[in-house]
Amino acid sequence: MTMVLVVGGAGYIGSHMVKMLDQRGCSVTTLDDLSSGHRDAVLCGDFVQGDMADPSVLDAVLSRGFDAVMHFASFIQVGESVQQPAKYYQNNVVNTLGLLDAMRAHGVSRFIFSSTAATFGEPQYSPIDEQHPQQPINPYGRTKLMVEQALADYDRAYGLKSVCLRYFNAAGADPEGQLGERHEPETHLIPLVLQAASGRRPHIGVFGRDYDTPDGTCIRDYIHIEDLCSAHWLALQSLMGGAGSQAYNLGNGHGFSVQEVIDTAERVTGRKVPVVNEPRRAGDPARLVADASLIRQQLGWQPKFADLDTIVAHAWAWESRGC
Ligand code: UFG
Repeated sequence: MTMVLVVGGAGYIGSHMVKMLDQRGCSVTTLDDLSSGHRDAVLCGDFVQGDMADPSVLDAVLSRGFDAVMHFASFIQVGESVQQPAKYYQNNVVNTLGLLDAMRAHGVSRFIFSSTAATFGEPQYSPIDEQHPQQPINPYGRTKLMVEQALADYDRAYGLKSVCLRYFNAAGADPEGQLGERHEPETHLIPLVLQAASGRRPHIGVFGRDYDTPDGTCIRDYIHIEDLCSAHWLALQSLMGGAGSQAYNLGNGHGFSVQEVIDTAERVTGRKVPVVNEPRRAGDPARLVADASLIRQQLGWQPKFADLDTIVAHAWAWESRGC
């Protein structure tokens, strides 16, 4: 049985991953300090509450013995990373290196890392493939790129094998309705639009209508959480099978504008979404779309829920749970 440690397994992506790993027969342990995750989101496996910044916590957990580690415990807000870079460098870089060193000490040599489209910075062409220059324009993107670079060095020096998955926009919810997005504060477009549809928020602010896109709003590549997790599953299989380290871009290859997301939400929910036009948000590129051909070719990844209607419908089922 494959033993997997999921760091940050109580968060949005981690909790879906824990469920998938358990369903596919792995023995899963979650390590999470619950600073932003939710204990009740960890549906299966063992749960350890602890801070990965604490070497004694890592030592105790890793002595259980694991085949691989998946790491979802990073801070993710671009704006906050500009205001509080120390917080981001400390957690996303220093604490991640601590995790890698603890893995080395315990002889764990497979690592799956949540990287991001933000490592590319302002796109020079679209869709973005793995050859695109990585020139992040904010501390968040730089912290993720630094870990990618450290991982390449750790492979060369210590034989630590890793897969870096560069997410575009993770969205949607567990198709069975058990899990979904619960960020505090929520900053992501789809849950905010749905909260405006449900009346939990008065409106959605559209950050800029003067971009160089067909309707003037920003275009993003939304990938269903289950498809994102299935990419991690394939990455795990490849590392378990002895494959070398790799980095993959992860998206559907289709961009949708903010306005198209709002239109889709109105169609799916049958409700009106109140909209307020707001100024551009600093650091938002007009268009971020993935070329995910490499992971399709090398790992056979195929999204199951590539259409935006399904992504929004699953997010809506979660958002309106209990109503
Ligand atoms: N947007 C709005 N109004 C809102 C929220 C978002 O118009 O209230 C717009 C944004 O300007 C952007 C799009 O909706 O154009 C998507 O915004 P999100 O905040 O949902 O997602 P981002 O593309 O900004 O962020 C995603 C990940 C981040 C990661 C970033 C990398 O969620 O963690 O990609 O580029 F850092």
